[in-house]
Amino acid sequence: MSRKTFAFLLLLVASACAKPAPTYETDIKPLLQASCVSCHVEGGIAPFALTTFEQARAQKDAIADAVASRRMPPYLAGEGCTEYSDDQRLTADQLALVAAWANAGAPQGTPSNASEVAVPPFSNTLPRVDLELALPAPYTPLQSPDDYHCFVLDWSAQVDQYVTGFNVQPGNARVVHHVIAFLIQPDKVQQTLDLDAAEAGPGYTCFGGPGGNNASVSWLGSWAPGSQATMYPEGTGLLIKPGSKVVLQVHYNTTAAPVGQRADQTKVELALADTVQKRAWIMPWSSPDWARNHHMPIPAGEPDVVHSWSLDPTQVLSYLTSQQLVNGVGFRIYAAGFHQHLLGTRGRLEINRADGSKECLLDVPRWDFHWQRNYRFSKMKPFKPGDLLGITCHWDNSAENQPVFDGVKREARDVNWGEGTADEMCLGIFYISE
Ligand code: HEC
Repeated sequence: MSRKTFAFLLLLVASACAKPAPTYETDIKPLLQASCVSCHVEGGIAPFALTTFEQARAQKDAIADAVASRRMPPYLAGEGCTEYSDDQRLTADQLALVAAWANAGAPQGTPSNASEVAVPPFSNTLPRVDLELALPAPYTPLQSPDDYHCFVLDWSAQVDQYVTGFNVQPGNARVVHHVIAFLIQPDKVQQTLDLDAAEAGPGYTCFGGPGGNNASVSWLGSWAPGSQATMYPEGTGLLIKPGSKVVLQVHYNTTAAPVGQRADQTKVELALADTVQKRAWIMPWSSPDWARNHHMPIPAGEPDVVHSWSLDPTQVLSYLTSQQLVNGVGFRIYAAGFHQHLLGTRGRLEINRADGSKECLLDVPRWDFHWQRNYRFSKMKPFKPGDLLGITCHWDNSAENQPVFDGVKREARDVNWGEGTADEMCLGIFYISE
């Protein structure tokens, strides 16, 4: 073969292999539609829409940066820990596609007839709604940009009931940033009503939890924008006794909503059952010593403070389940969540098995208070007596990492466990059943 022919063949092969740059119409639009527009839509929680080519092109570099750093879509679970059935992370191929598209100058490609992204009819409903609990009255966030408010909702059932499914319908999707429903046991109802009565208007201010002396508070469910309606694992449910109350904690963020368009009346939808095969609990997990004795010091100026703790929960299972389970028996774990406040940077939940092996449940390499959610395992994890359930949290309390309130950066100061925006927490949250 002559040298010329060889060079020609080489050129032919190379041009056949060089992939054309990805285009908006063929590659990026479907990706935005599947992973972004549930929030990045007119009237959504995100500050701008990504439903047209012009909008996507204008944001091309921000998009490439946000997905490469995994800030977007907001799914805090890190790689290499375990598998989740509700995984929203982009794949390595998708990341490469977005990067190549942005590098090529964000080409549009051939527009189809429908050039606008069809926002999917977001199926945010339970298969069956048995009860709706709404805020008693519309509420307009008073603090900006973040307002944390608790609302007390009545529970009128006269017999034991089990919650088997949980969903939130935000009244105003532009401002509702996350919602946690706490179950207030009958003996704690009065202190909750006192908190409510002490503040004018609907509900009361709350941040880390429902307030009051509620160290071992139970959860009914949690929601953040983009979460789907959740049916709890087959055959399981959370018991609510007559005389209980539900406290709905709503985190409002007003960044995407102009003044005058911030009123909200959110509601919770529940699926209920009279009986279940396996009773379930949403179990908060942290060292009692941190909360009760304030033994979680985070000194001012320290850039990486670590606290770590583990225990065999089966030793205290009776306490954790309000005496419904006995100590010393195994249980099942289906989902995990993680909670710190504003100085938190990263953390991890894991099982240290009695045989010396470790099983990762949730690794959060970049904590972001704005994105609280649960991560449902693809496979339920059995927990056996003798194993340890561990939690590790990191904080950055340096001067640079202080939160900004009303435009002013706070000064670094010594921090410890507490409910306020200036306090910290280190909490795992597990959905477990007998
Ligand atoms: C669950 C809701 C939600 C989803 C899904 C989501 N975003 Fe966002 N996005 C937000 C919110 C809210 C903000 C405002 C900043 C914040 O609160 O973190 C934001 C901010 C951004 C920003 C600007 C700030 C930054 O961090 O760079 C970009 C760019 C962005 N999103 C791109 C995307 C892309 C691309 C996708 C899909 C791959 C996506 N987002 C998916 C809610 C979402």
